[in-house]
Parts: sequence; C-alpha cells; structure tokens
Amino acid sequence: MLAGCGGGEGGGAGDSITVGFSQVGAESEWRTANTRSVKEALAPPEFNLRFSDAQQKQENQIKALRSFIAQGVDVIAFSPVVETGWDTVLQEAKAAGIPVVLTDRAVKVSDESLYATFIGSDFVEEGRRAARWVIEDSEGKPGPIRIVELQGTVGSAPANDRMRGFKEVIGEDDRFVIVRSQSGDFTRAKGKEVMEAFLKAEGGNIDVLFAHNDDMAIGAIQAIEEAGLKPGTDIRIVSIDGVRGAFEAMKAGKLNATVECNPLLGPQLAQLIRDVHAGREVPRRVVVEEGVFTQDQAEAELPNRKY
Ligand code: AHR
Repeated sequence: MLAGCGGGEGGGAGDSITVGFSQVGAESEWRTANTRSVKEALAPPEFNLRFSDAQQKQENQIKALRSFIAQGVDVIAFSPVVETGWDTVLQEAKAAGIPVVLTDRAVKVSDESLYATFIGSDFVEEGRRAARWVIEDSEGKPGPIRIVELQGTVGSAPANDRMRGFKEVIGEDDRFVIVRSQSGDFTRAKGKEVMEAFLKAEGGNIDVLFAHNDDMAIGAIQAIEEAGLKPGTDIRIVSIDGVRGAFEAMKAGKLNATVECNPLLGPQLAQLIRDVHAGREVPRRVVVEEGVFTQDQAEAELPNRKY
C-alpha cells in the first residue's frame, strides 16, 4: 500500500519528523518495556516525539489524537486501548492529511485506509500456543481438567484474540473445561483480586490458570500462595509476554510457561514512520516473531532477557 505523505509542519521542529504517540498506559512490565523502546527509537534529532499516556482509557486516547491533529504533527502512531470506536477520529486524521501507524494493538474500522500500517504480535497465535502448552502439559491426565482464565482489558485486541486462539485449540480436547473467565485488566493488582475470587468460588478445584499476561499471573501467584496452595504445582500456570518477572517466577517454580510477546517494537516502528512520512510503500501488516519458554529453560534464558 502506498502511504500518504505526512506534509504537516510538525510544530516547527526543523527537518525532524514530528510524531504524536498515544500509549495505552503503564499497566504492565510489558508496557514499560514497550514505552522505553518507542522513546529510544523515536529520539532527536531525527524525531520530535510528542508522547501521551492514556491511562488505559479510550477517551484519553481520542483527546490525545485530536490534540495531535490540531498541532499538525507529521505522523500519528498509537496503540489502541480497545478495538472499536475509532472511525470518527481516524477520519479526522485522514481529512487533515496525517498518516496513522498502529502499533501493538489493532483496531476494527469500516474503512481500512484510515491507517497506513499495523505492526504487532499475532495475539490469536499466542492464545493457541498457550493452549498447546496446556495440552502437552496435561498428557495422560484424565478429565475434567478445570481451567480458570484471567482475561486482559475488556474489548482490547489482545484479550479478544488470545481468548479466541486459546478456545480454538483447547476446544479440540474434551477433557478441558473453562470454569471461570474474568478480566484482570492486564494488571498485577487486578490479577490477584480476580484470582482470589476464583479461589473463593472454586475452592481447591482449579487445575490450570491461563492468564492473558504475565503481570496478572504474578498477581494470581500471590493469591494462590495466600490461599495455602502451591502455584506451579497445585495449579499449573501459563501466561503471555515473557517479561523478566515471569522468568523469575518460572525459576522459582511458581509459573510453568510463558508465551513470548515482544514489546521491543521501537526500531521497526521508527522505520515504518520514516517510510510512511516519505510516502514509500509499506506492508499493511508487520508481524513480530516470537517463541514459548518453559520452567526448565528459565535459569539459562534469564540473563538473555532484554525486557
Ligand atoms: O497489547 C499487549 C499487551 O498489553 C501485553 O500482553 C500486556 O502485558 C499489555 O498490557
């Protein structure tokens, strides 16, 4: 696709590319690493970055995007809190001639030309990988195997897609039953709170926890310990991201596996912004390469982790 050229004045920052970036928030270890990567890659003198933290609220992001449009930035980049509700503000950006690059999370819009490109992970595949690990880990065990699910932010692409991918694969084996699913909003505090409620409702009758991110799993591990159970043994746990905290929890035997979701998108994002700004061809979708890590790999892998 040929991206539109961002011809704005960029707020008078000389030859540099002025980028308005709206971040989801600071909800997780993943997000902190992502913000660092974006800020390092969109640094002066090449870039003039205007960074805004939405504190996990779509209304804040819409305000930030409108403010970037009013300032006449060259390119808007953002990681949308939720998938829907973007048509109007993206039409406003298009009418102002400002190209939009999506990073990390996708949007559902009626007109795909409202954004130039999207770089991020394949969240559906991450959900599938988590389910494949659960099936492998449960080899030879009889059913029913009772799973609880800590979901990410309601309406967000990673929560929708990870749930879909996980259900698709786990549904192929009728030993598994998802007994509880609730959002923990991708935070440790909420992950702990919701896990406490799951434990209260199900007693010791939980075999597996699938958490949509590592932070919620780490919060849940605390809840499991406080309930007098052994995380990783009494309840097998798989989560997503592959942050340092997850590797430490695996090394301690409390988390069983983490599916990688790479937050270090800054350098690739910077290149897409350069290309879009220059009016060069960009792919519609750039997918990030990722793997799965288990407890037995944690100690050796920990020093290599970059986030
Ligand atoms: O969009 C990526 C997700 O958002 C990460 O998995 C999670 O940790 C973050 O909050």
